[in-house]
Amino acid sequence: MTVTIVGSQLGDEGKGALVDIWGGDADVVVRYQGGDNAGHTVVQDGTEYKLSLVPSGAIRGKVGVLGNGCVINPETLFDELDTLRDQGLEPDVRLARRAHVILPYHRVLDGIEEEAKSDDDLAAGTTGRGIGPTYEDKAGRRGIRVGDLLDPDVLRDRLEYAVPQKRALAEEIYGLDVENSEHADAFDIDHLFATYREYGERLKSESMTVNAGEFLSDKHTGDDELLFEGAQGTSIDIDHGIYPYVTSSNPTAGGAAVGSGVAPTVIGQGEVVGIVKAYLSRVGTGPLPTELDGTDSEEELADFIREKGGEFGTVTGRPRRIGWLDMPMLRHASRANGFTGIAVNHIDVLAGLDEINVGHAYELDGEELLTMPATTERWGDCEPVLKSFEPWDEVDWTAVAEEGYEAMPANAREYLDYISDEMSTPIYAVGIGPGRDETVVLDNPFEQ
Ligand code: IMP
Repeated sequence: MTVTIVGSQLGDEGKGALVDIWGGDADVVVRYQGGDNAGHTVVQDGTEYKLSLVPSGAIRGKVGVLGNGCVINPETLFDELDTLRDQGLEPDVRLARRAHVILPYHRVLDGIEEEAKSDDDLAAGTTGRGIGPTYEDKAGRRGIRVGDLLDPDVLRDRLEYAVPQKRALAEEIYGLDVENSEHADAFDIDHLFATYREYGERLKSESMTVNAGEFLSDKHTGDDELLFEGAQGTSIDIDHGIYPYVTSSNPTAGGAAVGSGVAPTVIGQGEVVGIVKAYLSRVGTGPLPTELDGTDSEEELADFIREKGGEFGTVTGRPRRIGWLDMPMLRHASRANGFTGIAVNHIDVLAGLDEINVGHAYELDGEELLTMPATTERWGDCEPVLKSFEPWDEVDWTAVAEEGYEAMPANAREYLDYISDEMSTPIYAVGIGPGRDETVVLDNPFEQ
């Protein structure tokens, strides 16, 4: 059995809580794309764990795998593992030998390329973690993979090929005076070789690397339950998102197969659960048709939701932009991922508002659209066709968590039923607060 959890919107839908809850029934939790640009906050037994790379299941004693579709910064990885160990946990994390490695020059280039793009409004508002430049090198066949860290001769050869090119890019295209900058080490082959060789030694001595496809397929045929944990969300998928304001990987369900080496036929026989936030939030740049930013009262509403929902980037701390739920975006996500169920989070955040709206459709060139256009420029021209819902009051959410779905305010249930109908997918869970206990679970995808 496999369960794949995917963000339905722009990331930050609160996937971590569901991965944590359903991960209890999994033996292995797998990340298949992205790197330390993902921010998961997992609360367990009153302790908050902030992770950006380690699969959150590793907190609950599961095997955590970073698949070949991931880009891995070893510095972040070991920092997170050491912190978890200091907190008394014993995380078991394995890395695909085919996964690509983020090097310091990728981070430097991420920063300077974003700055260069900002003149043309093309900056994606990246997390600055070097994600895009690392995937560029992967596609350009000059990347360094986890397996290369285990073999000093290969590592040296790869660095000698790649680093002078990266240095030339920084110096000659972007005008960085590398030698006299704080980034000199990031482009120094000897320094990089010594540091990354040491990471390789540690990976080897702790037996942390695997042939992920083989490792996971063996687990699957051995009757282990696999949970695939998507990072980011469908609308910032490099293929299906709002290009170029996207991340550089495939958070959509198809990425689970390509990014892990487990066959699509295996993943397709399992469950694919979409995580939906009850409104929209966005940390990056680009258009956002249902954004609450047009009038003073909209901005006040956005501030209220931002504060109440804790809408500040987990990785960067940036305040997030806020909008009404965008239904064409969710229909697009349902089609691209083939959801078998959804979880709707943050329904409590909307409690007590005077009005609740949803972008039910778009109006574009006099036509009504029910799904997203394929170009971001056309998406930016869309005017939302709003649908209003009766608001619901603040209630004792702890009591709701104990009593279950029927204890939820009737108007909130009407809102949830609408989402489920429009996405043609049943609701498996509703998030009513940040803790694990503050989720009303209707169904467990591992028991479908
Ligand atoms: P990158 O992934 O750092 O290259 O950033 C590319 C785009 O994806 C930017 O708009 C980021 O804000 C966005 N992004 C990356 N990771 C996350 C995430 O975990 N949640 C929400 N947005 C993200």
